[in-house]
Amino acid sequence: MKNGFLVFLASFVVLGGSWCGFVLAPVLQLGGGKQTAILNSSDLYPVNRPGQANQGLQVYRANGCAACHTEQVQQSGVACDVVLTGAGKNPVAVTNLISSLKLNGLDKDLADALVDKITAAGGKAEIHIVATGPDIARGWGRRHSVAEDFLYDDPVQLGSLRIGPDLADVGTRQPDANWQLVHLYAPQSVVNDSAMPPFRYLFKVQKIGSAPSPDALVFPKGFGPPAGYEVLPTARAQELAAYLLSLHAEVPLHDAPFSQPLAASKP
Ligand code: HEC
Repeated sequence: MKNGFLVFLASFVVLGGSWCGFVLAPVLQLGGGKQTAILNSSDLYPVNRPGQANQGLQVYRANGCAACHTEQVQQSGVACDVVLTGAGKNPVAVTNLISSLKLNGLDKDLADALVDKITAAGGKAEIHIVATGPDIARGWGRRHSVAEDFLYDDPVQLGSLRIGPDLADVGTRQPDANWQLVHLYAPQSVVNDSAMPPFRYLFKVQKIGSAPSPDALVFPKGFGPPAGYEVLPTARAQELAAYLLSLHAEVPLHDAPFSQPLAASKP
């Protein structure tokens, strides 16, 4: 072949270029990721999931949950909320002033001006940063997802289709293990008209022996197995529920900040 070397060179450049773009650049950008400090705290984030939850990630993967669910919260911006922290010596004037003002979703300059106004009236106020965007408004998280959220996930279950809600923070939304299990066994028993398919093969139905098993699912009234039977989660179902409960992308980080009211912050 006359132009053999040229063809080799051209393919080398094309393949080498794509490898640099798709493999080398992401590794350089994110490969050195490590735990990072939570904002205004000395705690590190994230901590590795407990073993059972780590197994659950594989169950999640094997059952194709990522075909309908994402684990990536998007955010379009930030806004400021002005929060009253003290009414001072003249509470009536401060309360009147507050009731005439719009205090949420402001830009920084406006928020500063309002804090000055409230301070001048004798009250005390501070500015809280909140994330904004459709995902945040749906309650799917308090901030956008960042690389640190996935540090211990292998493989990462980002997902790209949202037939169901985003699950990045579902452990905060639905912290009850029984709810998660009942939802997997019979989604419509806990969510009206749920379009999620049931995953019954992760459970076994058996006759109640001398006494009901402690692990048996507790169903809402009108649902559940026939009288005399109980539904037990298999090890895989328990691992999957542990994984779902471990999904908490809810702490403020340097690259995804928001203000946490002191009373609600984690110990
Ligand atoms: C065919 C699409 C589909 C598949 C596959 C699917 N889901 Fe869902 N899921 C949905 C839909 C739709 C909803 C919303 C209705 C509801 O809450 O039941 C949902 C809701 C959920 C919720 C409740 C979320 C919330 O915010 O309350 C959880 C948890 C969940 N799914 C977990 C899973 C897990 C785990 C798997 C894999 C075993 C899975 N889903 C597979 C469609 C799906």
